[in-house]
Amino acid sequence: MKIRKSTESDLKDVLDVETQAFGNEKGPEIVGLVNGLLIDPTAMPLLSLLAVNDDKTIGHILFTKARITDSKESISAAILAPLAVLPDAQCQGVGGQLIEEGLRLLSESGVALVFVLGHPDYYPRHGFKPAGALGFEASYPIPNEHANAWMVQELRPGVIGSVSGKIICADVLNQPEHWRE
Ligand SMILES: CC(C)(COP(=O)(O)OP(=O)(O)OC[C@H]1O[C@@H](n2cnc3c(N)ncnc32)[C@H](O)[C@@H]1OP(=O)(O)O)[C@@H](O)C(=O)NCCC(=O)NCCS
Repeated sequence: MKIRKSTESDLKDVLDVETQAFGNEKGPEIVGLVNGLLIDPTAMPLLSLLAVNDDKTIGHILFTKARITDSKESISAAILAPLAVLPDAQCQGVGGQLIEEGLRLLSESGVALVFVLGHPDYYPRHGFKPAGALGFEASYPIPNEHANAWMVQELRPGVIGSVSGKIICADVLNQPEHWRE
């Protein structure tokens, strides 16, 4: 399996993976989200990676720009959304490798903080911690029972603790329907 950046010509493959991974119920919303984010100027710079096996796209991950209100220092931040792996290829480490390669590339490009709203049993395996308790408010309120689903990871040691505030994401992601766990 190889991981590489996606290009415009990969759009159909990307959307196919989202559709199959998220299924009939959530798939259409996620396809709309990804389609929108890939051309949203407020999402830039973004990082869109594909997992490819024998020329077949089996996974996709997207990180888009985020910013932190109240932060006196200019901190470069990103949000991971969404991550998708074809059902047949799940539980073989593909999602994990997409996350790790994404974090590596973001770190190289100077991103200091990465946020995710996702499964609280999955993302901590890749270094994410509950973000609310660390001073980071989500773009929309997260109900208490799902508080641990809002997570953060620092790519520059020491950033957590030195900044706090509300996270403002790209316009296309900044809609309440994308902030329900
Ligand atoms: C979530 C998803 C991306 C994980 O990708 P993957 O390639 O299967 O993940 P990995 O192989 O890296 O990790 C698999 C492990 O994570 C666990 N895992 C997978 N999905 C999980 C979830 N939703 N919650 C908790 N753990 C999960 C698996 O049980 C497995 O555990 P094990 O190693 O103890 O057997 C994939 O299942 C998927 O596309 N799901 C549908 C779309 C989705 O929910 N995306 C996430 C949006 S936040």
